[in-house]
Amino acid sequence: MDLDKIRIEAESEIEGAHDRRALEEIRVKYLGKKGIITSALKGIGGLPKEDRPAAGERINAVKVAIEEKLNHKLKVLEEKELEEKLKQEYIDITVPGRRPGLGHLHPLTIVREEITEIFMGLGFSIAEGPEIEYDYYNFEALNIPRDHPARDIQDTFYINDNIVLRTHTSPVQVRTMEKQKPPIRVIVPGRVYRSDDIDATHSPVFHQVEGLVIDRGVTMGDLKGVLSLFARQLFGEDTKTKFRPHYFPFTEPSAEMDVTCMACKGRGCRVCKGTGWIEILGSGMVHPRVLSMSGIDPNEYSGFAFGMGLDRIAMLKYGIDDLRLFFENDIRFIKQF
Ligand code: FA5
Ligand code: MG
Repeated sequence: MDLDKIRIEAESEIEGAHDRRALEEIRVKYLGKKGIITSALKGIGGLPKEDRPAAGERINAVKVAIEEKLNHKLKVLEEKELEEKLKQEYIDITVPGRRPGLGHLHPLTIVREEITEIFMGLGFSIAEGPEIEYDYYNFEALNIPRDHPARDIQDTFYINDNIVLRTHTSPVQVRTMEKQKPPIRVIVPGRVYRSDDIDATHSPVFHQVEGLVIDRGVTMGDLKGVLSLFARQLFGEDTKTKFRPHYFPFTEPSAEMDVTCMACKGRGCRVCKGTGWIEILGSGMVHPRVLSMSGIDPNEYSGFAFGMGLDRIAMLKYGIDDLRLFFENDIRFIKQF
């Protein structure tokens, strides 16, 4: 048996082992129960007695050499495996992060914020009131008594005889005047309810922005100035405004404000039904009776109020032809703003 040859072969096999399994196979092949070296050691018994010690020594030396080589190689392979594992688990902290998908503001929210900002710039602050409202604030204190025909103008959801879902943001005028001494300059963005049938321009739930200014010596000129400035800021500098006489029980005189149609710049189109104008709000000088019912002396103070439909304004601003799109929450619609 050529022990040198066996050792050299074993060593080169060990050298060539690529993983721990291959190495284990080599160990079994040489040092396992039926391995080459183990068999050689067993074979010593068959040698002449005097040859046995020398043979044993030589075979053992090879066995030790192979064992050492195996152990060494095992360490090398273990280190390599660890290195590869670390390389796989390596986190590159310099890689730019993935941005989480951000939601979109609803077009109604965008327009509400724009309107609010314009009025804040004019020194207005924001007031709020309940959506479930007393009949008194929604109607009576606004000069609409129970048997008044003006009640029919707005189709109302009644909770009971005294409580309604507010049909406009105007009750917050009264609530503000009861709480606050003039000068008053507030706007009231909010949700309102009417039992209107649903169509392209009507929803039973919609939004208004109310405005109220009370001070000494406030005139219709102030009303026109503030609302015209507002229209130019919201729709663009070349927007013209027109005030048409109207009727509201809580203002006297009352007017509706039209603006030049933004779709055709006033030339006349389908959106403005050929007139070149679009109505965007109701307004007027606060009725003296409303002032005194709210505890403000109409001989000392005067003021104006206005109310606009936020949904209709958003439709105009974005050229949306159906109000229902605002409430269907189709993400493909919302994403466009
Ligand atoms: C009012 O509600 C008055 N409170 C406005 C006002 C305030 C006048 C202060 C004077 C002083 P009107 O009923 O016209 O007015 O409603 C105002 C706006 O709400 C309308 O111009 C329209 O833009 C919007 N609107 C009315 N009904 C609906 C509806 N069903 N769906 C969507 N928008 C509506
Ligand atoms: Mg109207």
